[in-house]
Amino acid sequence: MTGQNLKNDSLDDIYKKISSVMPEIEWKVHAPLIEKINILKKEKNAVILAHNYQTPEIYHGIADISADSLALAVEASKTSANIIVLCGVHFMAETAKLMNPQKKVLLPDMQAGCSLASSITGEDVRMLKEKYPGVPVVSYVNTSAEVKAETDVCCTSANAVKVVESLGVDKVIFLPDHYLANYVQKNTKVKIISWQGTCIVHEKFTAKEVDDIRKQNPEIKIIAHPECPPDVISASDFAGSTSGMVKYVKENQPKKVLLVTECTMSDNVQVENPNVQFIKPCNLCPYMKKITLGKIFDCLRNETNEIKISHNIATMARKSVQRMVEIGR
Ligand code: 13P
Ligand code: SF4
Repeated sequence: MTGQNLKNDSLDDIYKKISSVMPEIEWKVHAPLIEKINILKKEKNAVILAHNYQTPEIYHGIADISADSLALAVEASKTSANIIVLCGVHFMAETAKLMNPQKKVLLPDMQAGCSLASSITGEDVRMLKEKYPGVPVVSYVNTSAEVKAETDVCCTSANAVKVVESLGVDKVIFLPDHYLANYVQKNTKVKIISWQGTCIVHEKFTAKEVDDIRKQNPEIKIIAHPECPPDVISASDFAGSTSGMVKYVKENQPKKVLLVTECTMSDNVQVENPNVQFIKPCNLCPYMKKITLGKIFDCLRNETNEIKISHNIATMARKSVQRMVEIGR
């Protein structure tokens, strides 16, 4: 997890921090909105939770906590703020609402979806449960609340193997990421029944691309997200959740590193690791990039784009997320 509290950072402090990844001309556009948002969030007792893929002006400029999806769920459950602004995608905001139903949870752009979350519906899960009676369902948090409501326990890429093994069974239905399912299968004896969902960002990476980068940079450390295809993970030195990747770089301080994941994250991590050189093939998540400072300011000022989940779905979905949080990382 990457925790930070920027409430007291001045604009100068923030720019000093991110100047290595942001030209001054761009900073001048962002600075006035960063200032306004940081004032507004104090006035409204709001907390800004940002995923690691958010742009540096969000991650370093206004976020109170920047983290992976597991830590965002945990932080959402702990906050005493009145309003949670979730800078990430829709399933993350829904998860925050499930974890802390009394709070107002706002998502700056309701179109910030996820190819994995839209690959499966609650009806699909009911159909699978009929096909495999008695087999427990483990769903990646990258799913809708409707899918979580049909799920026994959620997981993220940070704890998928641990969650599967916690069930003490010999077979699970694992949804919806086919590649994450494949990664889990390689790390457990439990039989994994998977779905065909993929992440449109991570599926684009190829083993050839990774191998070519290694040939050109023999000393490089290559770390991949488990949403990548299996041959990409095999060609890498380490696989882990976004915060697992952040931790790896922080602790190992490799001379050169390639983060095989959404490329904005390299900018965010570079700021905190100035002695590490980042090689950046750029695959962007179009959904994550829908979140901008302008939209964050508008939704917080007007308290619009509030996440609502029907009572029945929320009651069932909450159990599967809480069970995951109890299992931990
Ligand atoms: P993490 O849980 O590793 O942050 O991943 C979320 C995600 O959407 C990756 O594409
Ligand atoms: Fe979904 Fe992939 Fe974007 Fe993550 S990077 S939010 S898994 S589409």
